[in-house]
Amino acid sequence: MSVPADPNRVIIFDTTLRDGEQSPGCSMNLAEKLEMARALADLGVDVIEAGFPIASPGDFESVQAIARQIHGPVIAGLARCNPTDIDRAADAVKDAEKPRIHVFLATSAIHREFKLKMTSEEVARRAVEGVKRARDRCADIEFSPEDAARTELDFLAEVVERVIEAGATTLNIPDTVGYAVPQHYAAIIRHLKKNVRGIDNCVLSVHCHNDLGLAVANSLAALGEGARQVECTINGIGERAGNTSLEEVVMALHTRRDYYGLTTGINTRHLYPVSRKLSHVTGQTVQRNKAIVGQNAFAHEAGIHQDGMLKERSTYEIMRPEDVGIPQTELVLGKHSGRHALKQRVAALGYGLSDEQLNKVFEEFKKLADKKKEIYDADIEALAENQLQEG
Ligand code: KIV
Ligand code: ZN
Repeated sequence: MSVPADPNRVIIFDTTLRDGEQSPGCSMNLAEKLEMARALADLGVDVIEAGFPIASPGDFESVQAIARQIHGPVIAGLARCNPTDIDRAADAVKDAEKPRIHVFLATSAIHREFKLKMTSEEVARRAVEGVKRARDRCADIEFSPEDAARTELDFLAEVVERVIEAGATTLNIPDTVGYAVPQHYAAIIRHLKKNVRGIDNCVLSVHCHNDLGLAVANSLAALGEGARQVECTINGIGERAGNTSLEEVVMALHTRRDYYGLTTGINTRHLYPVSRKLSHVTGQTVQRNKAIVGQNAFAHEAGIHQDGMLKERSTYEIMRPEDVGIPQTELVLGKHSGRHALKQRVAALGYGLSDEQLNKVFEEFKKLADKKKEIYDADIEALAENQLQEG
């Protein structure tokens, strides 16, 4: 994929089917991956990382099937920086409309010394050889210096510059272990933008993990410094604490376009349905208070908030639920709720009560709410019926 003509357009690279699938309990079979890939294409992602073809015959088949059947997005396959992995990834994606090979090799001192047992020069040379081999098979090559956020800045810049010369078209800067904080990660991107020859002809990409709960914040900080691809997953699934959550980063850009001035190609109304689909496919539920797609994301219980919402929703909502595909705001009735919300629910349930009857129902409702965590419509109906019978 070439650098977008619009400098403010952010490329959304979805890795739910690769990094996301690596999270415990989230593995998917071929049919499930195809179903998710279709939903991701409809959502409007620019790149689908469909899997890691060398990992297993099943993963190869899934990447190949997605490459053949899903149209629109770039289809990427991951490879370590060795000929066997790269050839396997190239075979898996070759039938895609827009294929990409994503090659990675660790660059940090910790990984060089303990995992790879290679010197920095050996790492740089291996990266260049890998990118050249991949480039012989495919025009669109992404390179990731794994553990970039813990790599010495000068060495990181050197590797990035050498792989660009070798033919890489997207440079991804992973915070593999979720160690970065926003100012630190932004400084890495700024340093690369300033010091690497050829960087402006490539797409600079960010890939954050959420070990400190900062994946979305780090990604946004990097976009502020000129990165233009974000790697992310639906519901933020991924290794350990997960990856950057797609729905959060997209809605942050959308809601605060006044601040960032950046756009994506995402149809935000598909966000909630795709989140539900992934939960259904993996059997992994989303926490209630998850931003954007959690059950409480657009639910209000406090009486003051409910009263404000009923007068003007922008008092307590910065996004409209329908904009992310949630049918409507929910006013949860509980002990913190006020008379205004109760009156509205009673009317919505079809009861025309006098002010006096409503006051009595409100009294009974508060007593019940002290005993129950949540009040359901059936409870309200019973209270309203009692009042009507009493008179
Ligand atoms: O977190 C990471 O470093 C990765 C790379 C393979 C991009 O997932
Ligand atoms: Zn990752």
